[in-house]
Amino acid sequence: MKNGVFAFIADVMTAMSNCSLYGKGHPAVLHLSEKARDVLEDLYNEGRFTISLLGDSVIINESPFPGRNLHMHAFIKKLRRSGIDKIAVTKGVTAAELKEFISELAASKGISGTYPHIVSGIIEVKLGDGGGADVSAVMSENVGRVKEVFQGVSRFKQLDMVGLEDIVVSFISTLRREQNILKVISPVKSYSEYTYAHNTNVAVLSIFQAESLGFKDDVLHDIGLAGLLHDVGKMFVAKEVLEKKDKLTGSEWEEMRKHPVYGARYLATLPDIPKYALVAAYEHHMKFNNSGYPETTRRSGDRQHIISQLNSISDFFDALRTDRPYRKSVELPSIIGLLTESSGRDFNPHLVKNFLRSVKGVTTALS
Ligand SMILES: [Fe+2]
Ligand SMILES: [Fe+2]
Repeated sequence: MKNGVFAFIADVMTAMSNCSLYGKGHPAVLHLSEKARDVLEDLYNEGRFTISLLGDSVIINESPFPGRNLHMHAFIKKLRRSGIDKIAVTKGVTAAELKEFISELAASKGISGTYPHIVSGIIEVKLGDGGGADVSAVMSENVGRVKEVFQGVSRFKQLDMVGLEDIVVSFISTLRREQNILKVISPVKSYSEYTYAHNTNVAVLSIFQAESLGFKDDVLHDIGLAGLLHDVGKMFVAKEVLEKKDKLTGSEWEEMRKHPVYGARYLATLPDIPKYALVAAYEHHMKFNNSGYPETTRRSGDRQHIISQLNSISDFFDALRTDRPYRKSVELPSIIGLLTESSGRDFNPHLVKNFLRSVKGVTTALS
């Protein structure tokens, strides 16, 4: 049974890669779908084969499945990021049906086709039904979820990656339905909430920028995770410093400025962390002209990674529009002025231009 499940997943994942590389018409996709159909013959339980995700557990034919390998990891990630939590295949499925289903999965646009022998269950993502819940309620719920995950952060514990992945799926879904980015970003309700709302907002703003630049699928999700985790190092800064309402002293600032190193060091110890998240945690206070912190021994030609450049813009934008202990929030036209002024020095000028164009585009079109 275990080997059969692994063989089925391997065929499906290889077929998906072939679809992405060569298109669904490539003969290898049909051949692998035929192999998957044959393997299924030994996996049916009373004529059905089901795979469900429950938290970070995989349930096969109603029993927890303990095995994991690289294909299985990739398959679970694909389902989660496509918002699918259950697939049920009934006996009689054809290779052509499997091929079509696999090609839809590969395209990461959700499952819209109907299949006589395949049923998929969709994780309920807020706003995913096209309406109902209002955006600010959904986002404030997300801030609460980010808070829960962040409060569980410690050197000795795993990060709740399943929770974070689900939050990113919700952001992408929300942004597809509410185009006015200013409505999606959450207000900060209290100083102690700042870090959680800020990480939420940076993730949303980075996904917004990345989508407008044409990033898709897994890269888009990884960029969202990088935004959510960019300030995770703050969880290792003393609470008195992190939540201080007055101006920080010199030594407190020094401690605060260590959060990129703390964050990267923490993320480096965890499995399943996209490398973008680690890089962005380390680099998000570096500047486009190679200044900023942490000070490193970078050579003059070195640049911040593009994901860190996106994050830096999101970070700057969100920090300015929030009241902080040491200053009031800044109005949108002034933020735009400040971004433009520091473009080319602190931020990548092409990304600033794209960001301002996108923000102005949606806010003017919708005002
Ligand atoms: Fe930061
Ligand atoms: Fe930040």
